[in-house]
Amino acid sequence: MKVVLAGDADATGWGRWRAELAAAMPEAEWFTRDELAAARVPAAEVVAAVVASPPPGSLVGLPNLRLIQSLWAGVDRLLADPTLPEGVPLARMVDPAMSAAMAETALWAVLALHRGFFAYQRRQREGRWQLHAQRRADEVRVLVLGQGAMGHAVMQRLAPLGYRVQGWRRDGTALAAALAANEIVVNLLPLTPATRGLLDARAFAALPPGAAVVNLARGAHVVDADLLAALDAGHLRHAVLDVFHQEPLPAAHPFWHHPQVTVLPHAAASTDPRSASAVVAANLRALRDGRPLAHLVDRGRAY
Ligand code: NAP
Ligand code: GLV
Repeated sequence: MKVVLAGDADATGWGRWRAELAAAMPEAEWFTRDELAAARVPAAEVVAAVVASPPPGSLVGLPNLRLIQSLWAGVDRLLADPTLPEGVPLARMVDPAMSAAMAETALWAVLALHRGFFAYQRRQREGRWQLHAQRRADEVRVLVLGQGAMGHAVMQRLAPLGYRVQGWRRDGTALAAALAANEIVVNLLPLTPATRGLLDARAFAALPPGAAVVNLARGAHVVDADLLAALDAGHLRHAVLDVFHQEPLPAAHPFWHHPQVTVLPHAAASTDPRSASAVVAANLRALRDGRPLAHLVDRGRAY
């Protein structure tokens, strides 16, 4: 089975992936597009593509593609590529190791917000020794937006520690009511036309005063100017942001130096080649054997 690897080489580091993919599926042959051309392998022999947020156009000219397997959980960038081959099944990455990493990041953010550790960091920079009230975890209400692989893992991680965790689904409580009942909101929605800009002035106003926002999903879920306004007005106390409209976050962006914003470099949950290669191999073998493919994206719903 011939498989094309496509992605942002710097970010992906195919070198690291190759050994793991080859170990997980020794019977497959892996090529970047350049290697395919250099080896004069006919593009028609390629049946699958393993992709990591590749530049638009990366999958053009592969007439017999039968599976596009993403190494990313979120497929918004892939779906935004107008040249993405139509009618080819697209699978996203679902890996318990990745969900566990996301749960750790959310736990760190929620714990730091709950105990006021970001505020203590600010006080250290100001040379101020000042204690604030210590609250119990069961006094803290956390809303998780998105009940998929990531949101579910986060809820499972937080609940046993005593946090009062609520998951939001679109067919349940209205978003504004759910926001009003919680002081920390963790966003783990996919980026779709329905969720773009969901975290805007209206959503922030619905949160109680002193609430905090943790965005671990996609930058475009947040209206940056509205978030900054809510922080500067003193309505929100802190934001932990892992993802941004433009990545890397431009040097001039106000988030970088805002005292109530913690910036992470899209590090909440990276795909781990050691475990994700087995997920890829399982789906490629299912393709080869004619079994159902796992973790398929519904292009109509955009996730
Ligand atoms: P998933 O399993 O597809 O889950 C998506 C969840 O969102 C589902 O529960 C879905 O509801 C819900 N949803 C979708 N549209 C909605 C809407 N309009 N209103 C309310 N709920 C909606 O995705 P996942 O694996 O958990 O990943 C979620 C996102 O996390 C990814 O898309 C990606 O953007 C982000 N992510 C970020 C990182 C990072 O390092 N920062 C790493 C991995 C993933 P249904 O159950 O009704 O379908
Ligand atoms: C990372 O953001 C992913 O979607 O896997």
